Amino acid sequence: MTPQALTEDFGKTVVAWQRQHGRHTLPWQNTRDPYRVWLSEVMLQQTQVSTVLGYYERFLARWPRVTDLAAASLDEVLAQWAGLGYYSRARNLHACARAVAQLHGGEFPPTAAGLQTLPGIGRSTAAAIAAFCFGERVAILDGNVKRVLGRVLAFEGDLASSVAERKLWDHATGLLPEQDVERYTQGLMDLGATVCTARSPNCLLCPVQPLCLAQRDGSPTRYPVKTRKLKRGRRESWWLWVEKAGGQILLQQRPATGVWAGLWTLPMFEDEAGARAALPGAALETLPRIEHALTHFDWVLHTMRAEAPEGNLPGGTWVAREKLASYALPAPLKKLIDES
Ligand code: ADE
Repeated sequence: MTPQALTEDFGKTVVAWQRQHGRHTLPWQNTRDPYRVWLSEVMLQQTQVSTVLGYYERFLARWPRVTDLAAASLDEVLAQWAGLGYYSRARNLHACARAVAQLHGGEFPPTAAGLQTLPGIGRSTAAAIAAFCFGERVAILDGNVKRVLGRVLAFEGDLASSVAERKLWDHATGLLPEQDVERYTQGLMDLGATVCTARSPNCLLCPVQPLCLAQRDGSPTRYPVKTRKLKRGRRESWWLWVEKAGGQILLQQRPATGVWAGLWTLPMFEDEAGARAALPGAALETLPRIEHALTHFDWVLHTMRAEAPEGNLPGGTWVAREKLASYALPAPLKKLIDES
């Protein structure tokens, strides 16, 4: 059971704080349009607000309604998404738009339960959309909110375990205020993003500090508890940058599954010998290596660059530099090309 004293005060305090100190002018606020809210919530799942802003505006300018997005090709959507990372979100975004257009007459289902049946919409995202757009009284529990609630409750359960996670969901539901769920939901997000941060929570500014059990113990950063450590690997790959005199670059599309699925990169090899063998006799310039961190491993990318020689070349698509924007390039490749 969620402690009674907490249940009574917590919601009201978060709501009052959000009204005074929360964020009110983000471009996906002050609307109840599920398309806009859904798009922002998916983009914000693993990406911070400052990065999302530009992408959000560009998506809406290009696809003002969900039916417009549904009519786009996956390649166009991936190209617009390029640089935001976690590309399965873009594939799910596209699949979800199509499902809404084709199975739901172009309207998002108006409940968290209905929303959760759609691709890429998990329990917390469904609840956020339902609270913001339809005022439904349902709990969210994304990474930031796990941290806020984990601390307020000094929740000892290990969130690596699904039993503990379910318990925290129950607490999140138990803490919901009777009214103002929209503002409460935004307040929890704002607290997590601006006050109850991962490494240095600003407890002096926190409205729920008098209720916070972790603060009382003097150990807010001990929560939430999560034991499973990601074992990070390391990988190396070699990119071959082949460019024709007129500025066309050879690209290959990645397979439909795996890292960077469906994105376009320079031809890629597992070792330097493989890259050299693809352009025998060519003069190859070695560029500074790039280190790119992904969820499960650090990727060291070596790039070797050459002018396109006569004769056999690796397969792929020649893309003029000025056309690159319509191809989904992973962020480090985009940066590499932009900066050279
Ligand atoms: N993170 C997830 N959803 C958000 C929202 N609606 N506003 C700000 N940050 C968020």
